[in-house]
Amino acid sequence: MKIAIVGLGYVGLPLSLQFARSGVSVLGLDVDPAKIESLNQGRSYIKHIESSAIAEFVKSGMFSASEDFSRIKEVEAVIICVPTPLNKNREPDISFIINTGKSIAPHLHKGILIVLESTTYPGTTDEDLRAVLESGSGLKAGTDFHLAFSPEREDPGNPNSKVAVIPKIIGGYTPMCLEKTKGVYGKAIKTLVPVSSCRAAEATKLMENIFRSINIALVNELKLVYTAMGIDVWEVIEAAKTKPFGFMPFYPGPGLGGHCIPIDPFYLTWKAREYVQNTRFIELAGEINTAMPEYVVNRVGEALNAQKKAINGSKVLVLGLAYKADVDDDRESPSYVLMELLKHRGASVSYYDPYVPVIRPTREHPQWAGTKSVDWNHATFSSFDVVLIATKHGSVNYRELAEWSPCIVDSRNAMSGISTKKGQVWKA
Ligand SMILES: NC(=O)c1ccc[n+]([C@@H]2O[C@H](COP(=O)([O-])OP(=O)(O)OC[C@H]3O[C@@H](n4cnc5c(N)ncnc54)[C@H](O)[C@@H]3O)[C@@H](O)[C@H]2O)c1
Repeated sequence: MKIAIVGLGYVGLPLSLQFARSGVSVLGLDVDPAKIESLNQGRSYIKHIESSAIAEFVKSGMFSASEDFSRIKEVEAVIICVPTPLNKNREPDISFIINTGKSIAPHLHKGILIVLESTTYPGTTDEDLRAVLESGSGLKAGTDFHLAFSPEREDPGNPNSKVAVIPKIIGGYTPMCLEKTKGVYGKAIKTLVPVSSCRAAEATKLMENIFRSINIALVNELKLVYTAMGIDVWEVIEAAKTKPFGFMPFYPGPGLGGHCIPIDPFYLTWKAREYVQNTRFIELAGEINTAMPEYVVNRVGEALNAQKKAINGSKVLVLGLAYKADVDDDRESPSYVLMELLKHRGASVSYYDPYVPVIRPTREHPQWAGTKSVDWNHATFSSFDVVLIATKHGSVNYRELAEWSPCIVDSRNAMSGISTKKGQVWKA
């Protein structure tokens, strides 16, 4: 079997490797020529994906990358893993899906399966994508070609998260579409979870991410309440999670980050309006979570104030630019919001991240492009008035940090269990 995977990013690349590993030949399609070149030379551009795996499959011919969408005619199935961001008005931007649909439609043939994996609102697959594919190919979904939705459940940075063993939701446009989808994914994924429609599959993914967003908001709010009462929320979560049923731990932080949790819930909010429905939990969680950076920066102010210093004129180091521990992904990272707020209040801001040595140019944060991570050494770290821990990377030596830095504001409980001087660490 030969398939194509469109969009070779954090989702598409590991999925490609899993299919290749399972004996399915994969044609990787992307619009980024730098990625195509890198992959065809067997080089990874994602920290947690080994180059050796890519090189092995390129060499054996099980994987190749290309920009040539006409090669769709070689494959039995196409899986689409392109970005689904929000636009500047925080509305869904499905233009990447639509553009992919336009690129592949002229090359569709009878019997081919098209699966969308990008997280999106219910109706994207059977309304928006179907319309583009049908008009560009002259073929009909469910009759001439198969159509399905199957959400990705990647957990970047978690070494125990393996594409092959994470159960995969699949929803087809018709029962035949579902059968075809089972046949393709069944080659590479151990457990398939069929649902009744593309929409049910789209809604499942959104529910998973909305659940996270709301529970993170809950612990963020409890952090504020308990801190005011002199109670350590981290201690409380550790205690509560000993309950063997009915509780699941979530952890507070400096704000939401990444490609999914800050964005996906608002895909549902937008679509719900069409049905005159409100999504109050989603809005409230968004409000609480987006207020977190402001709270953390206020704690930096308090920590400096205790030393008779102000944010204005102080040297502040943000430790961790990636949005979560042990990854090199800085998309939607709250660290950028923290840096902006601190700079706005007059601080001189630097960052340290072992996985982001230099900030790449992005649409969201053009002002930081080219800024380099400081080096990890005593002289550098002790020169900052305060270090703000925004990401808890496992490879950072927090004991050394305690020796080097006079003042630490910790939004991740990274300093827990490390001996520090009285008043040196401020939880935020
Ligand atoms: N990263 C995650 O952990 C994660 C987890 C679950 C779901 N998702 C969802 O998966 C989707 C993809 O996310 P990602 O993190 O892999 O994004 P990404 O930005 O890492 O990768 C997307 C890739 O698509 C390519 N691309 C863009 N437009 C294209 C087009 N028209 N044709 C072909 N290629 C195109 C880009 O060049 C890029 O290589 C999103 O909908 C996201 O919400 C991501």
